[in-house]
Amino acid sequence: MSDPAELRGVQRDRWEEAAPGWEQRAATVSAAGAPVADWLVNAAQLSPGSRVLEVAAGLGDVGLQAAEIVGPEGEVVITDGAEAMVAAASRRVDESGAPGVSVVRMEAEWLDAETASFDAVLSRWGYMLVVDPEAALREARRVLRPGGRIAIAAWRSIDQNPWMEISRNEFESRGLTTPPAPDAPDPFRFGLDGKIAEVLLAAGFVDVRVESVELVWRLASLDDWWEHMRSTSSILGRAARELTPAQHYELREVLDGSYSEFLQPDGSLELPGSTWVACADA
Ligand SMILES: C[S@@+](CC[C@H](N)C(=O)[O-])C[C@H]1O[C@@H](n2cnc3c(N)ncnc32)[C@H](O)[C@@H]1O
Repeated sequence: MSDPAELRGVQRDRWEEAAPGWEQRAATVSAAGAPVADWLVNAAQLSPGSRVLEVAAGLGDVGLQAAEIVGPEGEVVITDGAEAMVAAASRRVDESGAPGVSVVRMEAEWLDAETASFDAVLSRWGYMLVVDPEAALREARRVLRPGGRIAIAAWRSIDQNPWMEISRNEFESRGLTTPPAPDAPDPFRFGLDGKIAEVLLAAGFVDVRVESVELVWRLASLDDWWEHMRSTSSILGRAARELTPAQHYELREVLDGSYSEFLQPDGSLELPGSTWVACADA
């Protein structure tokens, strides 16, 4: 699919569909993603009163963490392109009672925000999923004040992330999903060494710093992992939900065998992952 508008529509539909699963699995995502949220919020060098924009925020984990630092005199705007994700994040923000936090639907490539109006832009696992990430990062730079800071995360290459590599290989080898086209929206699109710095520099950012963060997905069991993947993966989730019973049992048997190397003595699962984290100045 080469028409960008069509691709945006397809991506949007996938995320609208995945939103209920993200809401159900919010605790698992927050726990695995906590070291990444910590890195991003620290890198943004926030202080009480800062104005923060979170892009492609999902349930708004990172924005809610930023809100604890910027306090009631600051402002956090949590945004996402999917209506259903925005509704889920709004419920979460209401529950948190955090002051100064709003949730708005916003497309990363067309930020509905004033030029030079934010001190920081934060995004965990968002920009590699946008159809034109360079355009989206230029938008982030536009809304940052001069010297404002961006901090983002994107997965390292899939071979560093067996939690996804194992499932994706099995789905693709059965023709249930197709490999992503080069430079198409994909969790591992910025995986190669140097790619995340290259795209930040191309968008006009300076003083780019990139590190990696190791994390662990903790699931109660192999069944819990399957449920998590089925509920949250924008690509594999739909394919998993459409399996016939026979396909389901065959695939589960193979996947359970492959993931069993990560089983703990109590039957729980600890799946390692590795992500790039990067910050840069506008
Ligand atoms: C992998 S999830 C990450 C969610 C959240 N940042 C986190 O770390 O838990 C990706 C999110 O990006 C959003 N997204 C994808 N493409 C987008 C776009 N072009 N503009 C805005 N949001 C987008 C999706 O709706 C989804 O909520």
